[in-house]
Formats: sequence, structure tokens, C-alpha cells
Amino acid sequence: MKRAFVYGISVEGENFTDRVKETKRLKLNFENGINVILISPRRMGKSSIVKKVKSEITNPEIKVVYMDIYDCRSEYDFYNRFATVLMKETATKSEHIIENIKRFLVRLTPKISFSPEPMSDISLSLGITPQNYQPEEILQLPELIAKEQGKHIVVCIDEFQQIGEFTDSLTIQKRIRGVWQHQQNVSYCLFGSKKHLMTKLFQNRKMPFYQFGEMMYLDKISTEDWVPFIQSRFEYQGKKISEELARRICETVENLSSYVQQLAWNILAETDQETTEQEFNTGVEALMTQCSGLFQEQLQGLTSYQINFIRAICNGVHSDFGSKAVLEEYNLGSKSNISRIKESLLDKELIETDADGVYLEDPVFKMWFKREYMK
Ligand SMILES: Nc1ncnc2c1ncn2[C@@H]1O[C@H](COP(=O)(O)OP(=O)(O)OP(=O)(O)O)[C@@H](O)[C@H]1O
Ligand SMILES: [Mg+2]
Repeated sequence: MKRAFVYGISVEGENFTDRVKETKRLKLNFENGINVILISPRRMGKSSIVKKVKSEITNPEIKVVYMDIYDCRSEYDFYNRFATVLMKETATKSEHIIENIKRFLVRLTPKISFSPEPMSDISLSLGITPQNYQPEEILQLPELIAKEQGKHIVVCIDEFQQIGEFTDSLTIQKRIRGVWQHQQNVSYCLFGSKKHLMTKLFQNRKMPFYQFGEMMYLDKISTEDWVPFIQSRFEYQGKKISEELARRICETVENLSSYVQQLAWNILAETDQETTEQEFNTGVEALMTQCSGLFQEQLQGLTSYQINFIRAICNGVHSDFGSKAVLEEYNLGSKSNISRIKESLLDKELIETDADGVYLEDPVFKMWFKREYMK
């Protein structure tokens, strides 16, 4: 089924819009073996763009491998995922997976089950443990495969910030970087949905992955690009939305990719023929309702100081939280409390900071919070 708007999953084909410049740059880096760290706020389109570039690289001498490590909880969880995906994706046919394992991971007796259909349905459990393989041996795998196959391999790792959560993470990071930085035939594209944690891993001089690759920031897709996309999707369904309302969709959610698609879909669903103010508003309401469960959850366990801090931001306070006036007006406790509040809200990904001050990450959260907590 062809869907008019898609959100919540990575998008491809005609559901993917714009990103011409970024796609070109990322592709160039992949083709030239340059490591990339891809950073953006949540749900902006990192996974989508990496998958797109992967699908666009047709040069047979370049192999792009994509893995997601969101569920890896320990160093060896990661090595198992790393090796499994490499074994699968560098095999041209499903039988070759076994050949790959025999060739590169001789000390294992993996469990494999084939489903009759495509490659992705092969379930493979390698069983790598500290008893059978050293970390360095696994980390060196792509280089060995690349050499043997006479290819350049680009390893893309989604939700890479998980690495920072492992026990003894710093040692592990040093180990990984130590091996990867010497590889001649492999490059890496590392990205993840937790911007705050990703920044910690890559932008701090003291961290092993500091300056590991080119930092690419994925900007918002501009309103000029969104508007024709939205309008054409409406037309495709035999409906109409004015340029003015399509623009307002972007403004309402500050051009955050996923929300633009979600809100546009809500409004499309309400519209019979041509979108009016009323359908627009109902769509926005629906968006807040859809998100409210998640938002409630995010607020659970926050202290009243933290809630008050969010209130202050909603009222336009972005800096000087430690001033007497702000401390008193919003009941934020003592001045020394402020950095703690900030740190924990950053960790929860509710706020973000830039040179000008502190902001809420999520425009829909902001609307919802104002309505629920600041009546
Ligand atoms: N180029 C694009 N064109 C149109 N919509 C897009 C594009 N990129 C992303 N989106 C929208 O944003 C949603 C999230 O995309 P994606 O999962 O790629 O983002 P992400 O940055 O990887 O998210 P997360 O931070 O959760 O990992 C998609 O489902 C889609 O609605
Ligand atoms: Mg993603």
C-alpha cells in the first residue's frame, strides 16, 4: 500500500524528500573512505539518509554494511552484532554466510536457521565470548574481509551511543578506536538518536573517539522543500491544502521531520476536500493526544524543581536561571541547584543547549506542556 505520509520508521523512495546536499556529501565520504559522525536532534532523518546512501552506492568495489546496536547492553553483545551483520552482509548469497564464518571465525560453532525467503530472514547466532575471541580479533574482521574481497567496506552503526553505556565504557572505546584507526580498507559512519550522548562521545577532547571522523550535522529540511512535498501528497489523495497551511504545519513542529509527516497525516485524515482552519486545528490536537502518553512518562519522576525549570523555559527564560529574580519567580531552589537540574534534563533529552541558552528539544512537548501544566 502506498502511504501518503510516513513517520516512526526510516523512510525511503518517494517518502524521502530533499537532503540533496547532505546525500551527496555523505555519499562522497563513503566512496572515499572518510569516517563520518552524523549528529542531529531526534527523528530528523539520520537512519533514513544513511540507508538511502547505502542504496545509492552502486560501485561494486564499495560495500556498505548497516547495523543497529540499540539493544546491545555489553561489549560482547556489540561484538556479536558487529560480526553477525558483517557475516551476513558481506556474503553475496545466503550459502556464502557459512563460508564466511568458516573462513573468518573458525573457532565458532554458530546456530543458523534459514527461512525459505530472503537473506534478511536468516537467523544467525554466532556465540562470540571472551573465551573464544579477543575483542581485537572481532574488531579487525571488516579489514580482513575487505582485503580478501578486494573491496572497501563502510560500516554504518546506528544508535552508536549505546557504547557509552557499557560497563567500563572508556576502556572499550579506547580498544575499539585503537583497532579501527589503523584500518586501511574500512571506514565508519557512526550515528545515534541521543544527541547529547553522541556529543559526549565525539566532541570531548578527552574521549577516545574525539576527531575520529568528519562531523556532519543534519539540518532541518526547509519549509521551501516541505511545502511542495506536503501539497503533492494531498493531491495524490485527491485533496488540497493551501501553501499557507502547509507552511503552518512546518512552523508548528519547527520543521522536525517526523512531526511534519505525522501532523500532515493527521490533517490529511481530517480533510474531505480542502483543508480548512478547523481541520488544521483538529490535526494539531490529535498530534498532542498521540504524544501525550510518552510525554506523561517523560515527566514522571521529575522533581518539582525540574518541572519549574521547564515552566521557565516555556515562558521565554533561556539564560540567567541563577539570577535572584528567576530563582524566586519559578521556585528553582538555590543557585547551585541549577546546573544539576540542567544536567538531568539534558540526560533525559528534554532540553538542549546552545550558545544562546537552554531550549526545549521538542516543540510538540512544549505545546502540550503549556496546555497541561501552565493553564
Ligand atoms: N528525507 C526525509 N524526507 C521526508 N521525511 C523524512 C526524511 N527523513 C526523515 N523523515 C521523517 O522523519 C522520520 C524519522 O526518520 P529517521 O528514523 O530516519 O530519523 P532518525 O534521525 O534516525 O531518528 P532517531 O533519532 O529516532 O534515530 C521518518 O519516519 C519520516 O517521517
Ligand atoms: Mg535513527
